[in-house]
This record gives sequence, structure tokens and C-alpha cells, in this order.
Amino acid sequence: MNLAIEDIVLRRPEQEDVDALYHFKNDPEVAGLLGGFSLGYAKADLSSWVEYHRTKANEALWVIADSDSNACLGHVGLYDIDHRVALAEFAIMLGDKSVWGRGLGKRITHAVVQYGFEWLNLNRIELSALVSNERAIHIYHSIGFRSEGVRRQAQFKDGRYLDIQLMAILRDEFAPKV
Ligand SMILES: CC(C)(COP(=O)(O)OP(=O)(O)OC[C@H]1O[C@@H](n2cnc3c(N)ncnc32)[C@H](O)[C@@H]1OP(=O)(O)O)[C@@H](O)C(=O)NCCC(=O)NCCS
Repeated sequence: MNLAIEDIVLRRPEQEDVDALYHFKNDPEVAGLLGGFSLGYAKADLSSWVEYHRTKANEALWVIADSDSNACLGHVGLYDIDHRVALAEFAIMLGDKSVWGRGLGKRITHAVVQYGFEWLNLNRIELSALVSNERAIHIYHSIGFRSEGVRRQAQFKDGRYLDIQLMAILRDEFAPKV
């Protein structure tokens, strides 16, 4: 189901989102904040990415879209949903840098975590973030995620090993209002 958050809608990914995703996912500044590594994406890769995530059963992935224009601003999701243990992994990529710093990342994170607890019946939502991504870690702490340790030098970017912060929130620790 689509989620409405003020002037944002979280909706299913469409092939029309490929151009925006191509721009965001190949942006070195955005990629530098994310935990993984990529050689870069062709539009064909992203077309397959849309189909793959649109049809994957054990995740809830949404495109973050402007509710007026429907333009894709990034994506957010709950991945690797384990219904037996009631846990999933959270990740967000707000790729349109012009909207950073307006409170969207925090509101979207809160809404998706709330969806995970109230609609998917999750008990635990976990994530990992580069320790250097202080803005993201600040948001996660402010929503109630707790630190569960650091994977030391578990990533390598731009000639340096980077630490990865592990965090999680349990249903009992979540406050439904931001
Ligand atoms: C991380 C991301 C989701 C944040 O979204 P955003 O809309 O820019 O963030 P918001 O405006 O909601 O909130 C930013 C918060 O971080 C704080 N902040 C900004 N820079 C900071 C810094 N260097 N250190 C600590 N806190 C910082 C702001 O003060 C604000 O907190 P407040 O609401 O208490 O004032 C978004 O920038 C993004 O997707 N970036 C690229 C990919 C990425 O980093 N994904 C997360 C991977 S773990």
C-alpha cells in the first residue's frame, strides 16, 4: 500500500523511475554515504533492479516520490523480512540532494519503521550505517534505534577502511509519534 507523509508519497517502483535512479545511484556523493560498493549502474541495470524489487516477496520497498509531481526522490525499504523471528533490515536513499536537511529523511524513516511494526508485525528492525554518516546515525538515534556495536574496518572506500555502525530498534522501544 502507498504511504502518504505530508508532501511525500511512498509508492511501488515503476520503470519511469529508472532515469532518476540512474542519476542518484551514480552520484559519487550519495554512493559515498552508502555501505556497499558498486562499479556504477547502467540504465538497463536499474530497469532490472526495478523489476527485481517490485516482485521480491520478502521485502517492502518503496520509491520516495513527490506527491504533486510523482517524481522519484529516492527509495526506502524493509529488506530480508524474516516472519518467523519478526525482523527486517531498514535502508533509505534520498538521492535528490536538493531535499536534504528538510526533515524528510527523519519523517520517512519514522513512517517506515511504524509500518514495519504496525502492519508487518515486526518485532525488531535493524540497520547498518557507515560511522562517518553522522546525519543518518543522528536520525536513527532520534527515532529510538540503539547502537549494537561497530564492525571495525568492514568497508573500504577511497583508499580508507571504514567502520560500520550496527543499530536496531525493538517494537517496545518505538514511539509512534515523531
Ligand atoms: C541520510 C538521509 C536519509 C537524511 O535525510 P535528510 O532529509 O537529509 O535528513 P533530515 O533533514 O530528516 O534530518 C537530518 C538530521 O541530522 C542532523 N544532522 C545534519 N548533519 C549532521 C551531522 N553532520 N551530524 C549529526 N547530525 C546531523 C540535522 O540537524 C537533523 O536533525 P534534527 O532533526 O534533530 O535537527 C539522506 O540525506 C540520504 O538519504 N542521504 C544519502 C544516502 C544515505 O546516507 N542513506 C543512509 C545510509 S545509512
